[in-house]
Amino acid sequence: MIVLGIETSCDDTSVAVYDSEKGILSNVVSSQLIHAQFGGVYPEIAAREHTKNFLPVLDKALKDANIVLSDIDAIATTFMPGLIVSLVAGVSGAKALSFSVKKPLIPVHHIEAHIFANFIKKEIEYPFLALVVSGGHTELILVKEFEDYIYLGGTLDDAVGEVYDKVARALGLGFPGGPIIDKLAKEGKEVIKFPRPLLNDEENKYNFSFSGLKSAVIREINKGIYKQEDIAKSFQNAVVDVLVKKTVLACKEFGINRVVVAGGVSANSQLREEFLNFKDLEVHFPPMYLCTDNGAMVAYTGYKRFKEKGVAVSLDFEAKARCRIDKFPQLLRSFHA
Ligand code: KG4
Ligand code: ZN
Repeated sequence: MIVLGIETSCDDTSVAVYDSEKGILSNVVSSQLIHAQFGGVYPEIAAREHTKNFLPVLDKALKDANIVLSDIDAIATTFMPGLIVSLVAGVSGAKALSFSVKKPLIPVHHIEAHIFANFIKKEIEYPFLALVVSGGHTELILVKEFEDYIYLGGTLDDAVGEVYDKVARALGLGFPGGPIIDKLAKEGKEVIKFPRPLLNDEENKYNFSFSGLKSAVIREINKGIYKQEDIAKSFQNAVVDVLVKKTVLACKEFGINRVVVAGGVSANSQLREEFLNFKDLEVHFPPMYLCTDNGAMVAYTGYKRFKEKGVAVSLDFEAKARCRIDKFPQLLRSFHA
């Protein structure tokens, strides 16, 4: 089965082709560097860029895969959550394709796609704990099996990737800030012991809060005393400490020793190293090129949904800015085509 995957939930326009026998045939990602000047994603510009980039990206994805539109068996696209104007761009493209080639439209949840990007190379056993860390999300989810999710907690304010981007901006570095800070931190020392937000907070055991940490880091940057690399290292130590310790706590509480890390921040080298120090945990990360937003994770998750659950939706299924992963399977059932 050949599935086309479309991802436009934020600022990356991506189209990929997944073949259930041969794997990923193509994965074209067009990143909108235009947002660098704003230090964050500007919604109206993002939507316009998706509209402009969609057809050239689709064309390249088909060419790279050496197929034509009529070879496709189904079209999977990210319907939620994300920037609504960005989502609508991809969903409209997907609906138009589904209508014209008369092939099923398979909806995918963005967080689900990040998690199942880990399955593309090889299937992982259930249950597992998923830590999803990206520019828009910081969530801990217990995955009992595909489409059976328990939401344990998430950020009460800023997402972790967003904080990386803001700290990089305050340091006068580029966008996205995560990879730059990750690299810089390798040369730095922990000169300031920043607070570890909500780490020992019983009521918010599985919730996160990074906006106070962001303000504390920016205050130190503005003092102009410390070297950039030392600020980067001190900040990253606090972030990684919180992410790893909360995930390990959930593993102990639920008696699970399998962890799947996903989303853009799962590319972080220190996060990877610190998780791998837990020898009694089986920890999975996506390959680097599937950490940040991409169409391949959407195509694969769509394929999985169609194969295992037989789900496709009618053209009146709508994109939504918000929808928790545990609520998504139920929402799908009410729209089953
Ligand atoms: O998953 P993603 O592409 O978009 C969302 O769904 O939000 O994640 C993008 C985020 C950005 O905030 C970027 O700074 C961060 O992932 N990121 C990293 C690294 N690579 C990307 N953060 C920390 N360390 C990295 N190596
Ligand atoms: Zn994402």
